[in-house]
Amino acid sequence: MSAFESDPPVVSWETRELPDAWPDALSLRRVRSLLRVALRVLRGPHSQVTLPDSLPGADRIPRYALQEFHNLPNGNYSKHVTHGYGRGFDIVMLGVMESRRQALADELAHCGSVLDLGCGAGHTAGALFERGVGDVWGLDPSPYLLQHAARSYPGVQFVQGVAEGTGFPGERFDGVCACFLFHELPPRAIEQALAECHRILQPGGKLVITEPGREHWKTPVLPLIRRYGWRGLYFRSLASLVYEPFLAAFHRDGLASVLERQGFSEIRTENELPTTRWTAIRR
Ligand SMILES: C[S@@+](CC[C@H](N)C(=O)[O-])C[C@H]1O[C@@H](n2cnc3c(N)ncnc32)[C@H](O)[C@@H]1O
Repeated sequence: MSAFESDPPVVSWETRELPDAWPDALSLRRVRSLLRVALRVLRGPHSQVTLPDSLPGADRIPRYALQEFHNLPNGNYSKHVTHGYGRGFDIVMLGVMESRRQALADELAHCGSVLDLGCGAGHTAGALFERGVGDVWGLDPSPYLLQHAARSYPGVQFVQGVAEGTGFPGERFDGVCACFLFHELPPRAIEQALAECHRILQPGGKLVITEPGREHWKTPVLPLIRRYGWRGLYFRSLASLVYEPFLAAFHRDGLASVLERQGFSEIRTENELPTTRWTAIRR
C-alpha cells in the first residue's frame, strides 16, 4: 500500500462514527416498522434520499445519486440497509458477480496501482487486492458503504468522492475499474467520469468496466427463454422491477463511442449473460 502526497486525505472509515439515517431508527421486530420498509420497497415512484445532519461530505454528493436506487429505503444512505445490500446484491445476481469480479481483477492483475470507482461494499477492490495489486483504492460517495468496505477489506484504501472528479492527481494509476457504476449515472456524468478516467490514468493504462448487459433487457421474451432458459427471464424481470432511473439511457447509448471520444483506444466489449465488460487503453 502506498500513497502520494497529492492523494486525497485518507479517512479511517472503519472506526468513524456515522449518524443514523431514518431506516436505522426502525426496529425490524416491530410490525409497523416492517410494514413501512416493505411498502417502501414495493411501491413506486421512489423518493429522494434524506441525509442526516452531519453526514460527512453530504454537500458534495450529487442530487441524482440521492434517489432510492434498487427500491432500497433511503437508497445507499443508511447503516443497516446498505449492510444487507452489500451481501444481498450478489445473492440476487444468482452468484455470478464473484466470477465477474475475478475476471475484472484478472484484467488488471499486472497493474501497480488501481482505483475502483463506485466501489460500494468494496468487493471488487478486495478482489484486486487479493489478486496481488499492491496499491488498491476504492471510491464511493456513500460514507455508509465506505464503512462496510473498510471493515471487510483492510488492505485497501477507501476515499469518499465521485467518478466525475476523483481528487487524485493526473496520471496517478495504471489501472482504473468500475463494477455496476456507469448504468447508475446520467449521460452527462458518464461523459465527465470517462474524461476523469483518462486524466488519472497513465498513457497506456487500462480501464475495465463491468455493467448489466443489454441483451436480456432488449431481446423479446420468447427468443430470450429459448436462448437462456429461465435465467434469461429472471434477469430481464429483475432489470425491469428494480428502480434504476438511468438504465434505459445507458443501454441506448452504450459506452464505446464515449470511450473513443474521451481518448481511449483498443476498445473491447465482451457479453456474458447478464453482464457486459468493456476494456480500453488510455491513449
Ligand atoms: C450498484 S452499486 C455497485 C457497487 C460495487 N461496485 C459492486 O459491484 O458491488 C453502485 C455504486 O456506485 C456508487 N455511486 C453512485 N454515483 C456515483 C458517482 N457519481 N461516482 C462514484 N460512485 C457512485 C453508489 O454509491 C454505489 O455504491
